[in-house]
Amino acid sequence: MALLEILKVPDERLKQASDPVEVFDDALRSFIDDLEETRLAGPGAVGIAAPQVGRFQRIVIVDVSNTRKPVPNHGYMVLVNPEITHWEGYEMGREGCLSVPDYTGNVIRATHLEVKAQDPRGKILEFKMEGFEARALQHEMDHLEGMLFVDRVVSRRTDLFRRKVYLKGRKAIGSA
Ligand code: NI
Repeated sequence: MALLEILKVPDERLKQASDPVEVFDDALRSFIDDLEETRLAGPGAVGIAAPQVGRFQRIVIVDVSNTRKPVPNHGYMVLVNPEITHWEGYEMGREGCLSVPDYTGNVIRATHLEVKAQDPRGKILEFKMEGFEARALQHEMDHLEGMLFVDRVVSRRTDLFRRKVYLKGRKAIGSA
């Protein structure tokens, strides 16, 4: 296992779209282990996407189980080639990002999702998710399109907030 370097703004590579995964081999699974180790090393990180470490493939990890948000969740999820097949509702909520360490922002996201993806062996998975978990997944899937939460705030003047201290273990505003 190895810690991977996280790309941070204004790195132009964060704007690159990622390609589908076609080969489900040991090298892929080893990369996913490294990606998870890198997520766990980040402060309060509830998710991470492969392009954040410079690998432009459609792979995301989400795990909101270690947060205070009292909503149902699936715990640790690796989603390869994820697709949202249905979404409902919307709400504004605060987001942070390992690639944008100095800011948090208010972003509108769907509240309920149905998602299709593959696991690290290529098996098809289907999930329904809601609330903070659904938010985290939408945030990660944006990374696959080269988009960051700062591109989604309605107003950079009123909806972006500078982080004073990036406290380790501060779970109220997770990064993803
Ligand atoms: Ni992010």
